[in-house]
Amino acid sequence: MTVDGTYFDAMYASCDDPWGFRTRWYERRKRAVSMAALPRERYGCAFEPGCSIGLLTRELSFRCDQVLAWEGAHEAASRTREELADAGNVRVVWARVPEKWPKDEFDLVVLSELLYYFDDQDLAAVLDLAWGSLRSGGTLLAVHWRHPVAEHTRSGDDAHRALAGLPGLGRLVEHREEDFLLDVYQAGRCARPASVARAGGLV
Ligand SMILES: C[S@@+](CC[C@H](N)C(=O)[O-])C[C@H]1O[C@@H](n2cnc3c(N)ncnc32)[C@H](O)[C@@H]1O
Repeated sequence: MTVDGTYFDAMYASCDDPWGFRTRWYERRKRAVSMAALPRERYGCAFEPGCSIGLLTRELSFRCDQVLAWEGAHEAASRTREELADAGNVRVVWARVPEKWPKDEFDLVVLSELLYYFDDQDLAAVLDLAWGSLRSGGTLLAVHWRHPVAEHTRSGDDAHRALAGLPGLGRLVEHREEDFLLDVYQAGRCARPASVARAGGLV
């Protein structure tokens, strides 16, 4: 079963930063690795479903013209909206995926610490929608914790295996460490997308 919204509502009711996104070096480092792994210096429109309290959203706002951030927990969406009120290029919406999905096309879709909450059917729907909303040449970033968590429907490794099975995405970055997996894919016909150096004419 997909993890129910009440689970996240209860987490935010008892703590304003349930995962320690603000305070933990682990989380700050992972965000830095995530941002460094994005192949382009600048993006047009980005979509981040499950934005929590908006720490990664803030980083994305520095690299993207527009960021659409969706969050399924009401409390977290409100806090993110307040937190990023000074960022004119971020729109925060309270919405759960895959029940809803934006109609726009994006240059970047970020699936960070989200996919393990979905059952098989919802995972397939989210991956399909994410892939389908990327412009040709767009970037898909996925980042997930690898250690077991009782409440997770699947492991981070399992989620990344499902992503790797999608047709039409070429992997540009594959980062493996004991604690998390990070993959960057590029949408388009080319199975082997241009590396950052090749795209920049260095090789
Ligand atoms: C572990 S946090 C990840 C936050 C952020 N993406 C990051 O990596 O910094 C997961 C967030 O996803 C939200 N979430 C979980 N299931 C969701 C769904 N089906 N639709 C939208 N948001 C969801 C939760 O409320 C929570 O805030």
